[in-house]
Amino acid sequence: MNPSKRIETASDAVELRLRVRLWRNKGARIALVPTMGALHEGHMALVREARARAEKVVVSIFVNPAQFAPHEDFARYPRDIAKDRSSLEARGDADLIYAPATAAMYPQGFATHLSIDGPAAGLESDFRPHFFGGVATVVAKLLLQCAPDIAMFGEKDYQQLLVVKRLVKDLDLPLTIIGVPTLRKPDGLALSSRNAYLTAEQRQVAAHLNRALRSVADAAKSGVAIPQAEAEGGAALLQAGFDRVDYVAIRDAETLAPLRVLSGPARVLAAARIGGVRLIDNMSV
Ligand code: PAJ
Repeated sequence: MNPSKRIETASDAVELRLRVRLWRNKGARIALVPTMGALHEGHMALVREARARAEKVVVSIFVNPAQFAPHEDFARYPRDIAKDRSSLEARGDADLIYAPATAAMYPQGFATHLSIDGPAAGLESDFRPHFFGGVATVVAKLLLQCAPDIAMFGEKDYQQLLVVKRLVKDLDLPLTIIGVPTLRKPDGLALSSRNAYLTAEQRQVAAHLNRALRSVADAAKSGVAIPQAEAEGGAALLQAGFDRVDYVAIRDAETLAPLRVLSGPARVLAAARIGGVRLIDNMSV
């Protein structure tokens, strides 16, 4: 911890590689924390974990257009790089911010898009079919540009974490993906940049997402049939004031395959909407 240290910024892959190469020549172990900015304590938990495991920590800040559909919140996604920089500088756990412009990541003529199956199938993909292709493409680019030893991803986006692990394995990328537990508010709401969209009243409703997941997990563990536990979870969310439930699902924790009965490690995942705000959460069963 070295609070208030000034953090430099690399704005394209050439600058990033130059810096990382200098560190690597000195034998430093390097961690990458990919983010879309609007940094909150959940992101900081990733940065802190990165600092604990590596000598040099790069935080990327890039709102990736490829993972938003045209009707989604790309345009209004919160962006405040000056504030992100001061939060990171106040903590002192990051060494470099990588903040490429969209045109640097996706220049004229860009034509390569990854497509991924396995853990990417279903759940989020049923509602955001473009999402994991966009995530896989940008994460592969970030990992290749930075070439870190480790990269940190939150369990908050559990399906994304499994997708990224799959991608790294399938493309033989020489690094380790580290999953970091979800940071929550005292009432259980997972920290998320999209919580900023909630009104005070919606914020109260939002806290029920985590409670519903807990009840579904407890029900399944106490022997309630999986489809029934899932259905009761969905009903509880509507009852609490959510406008729409995209899914409440108990899945195999490693493959996300549907389960008939609880056998090995399982995960309950949910996505639901309040007004125009879509929230996701998950926990182990
Ligand atoms: P973003 O939503 O900014 O999240 C960046 C990372 O922070 C992700 O790995 C996410 O799981 C983690 N995170 C978010 N909220 C968290 C919380 N409450 N506790 C712990 N970790 C949390 O996820 C993305 O950006 C993008 O899809 C990205 C991977 C950067 C690719 O564009």
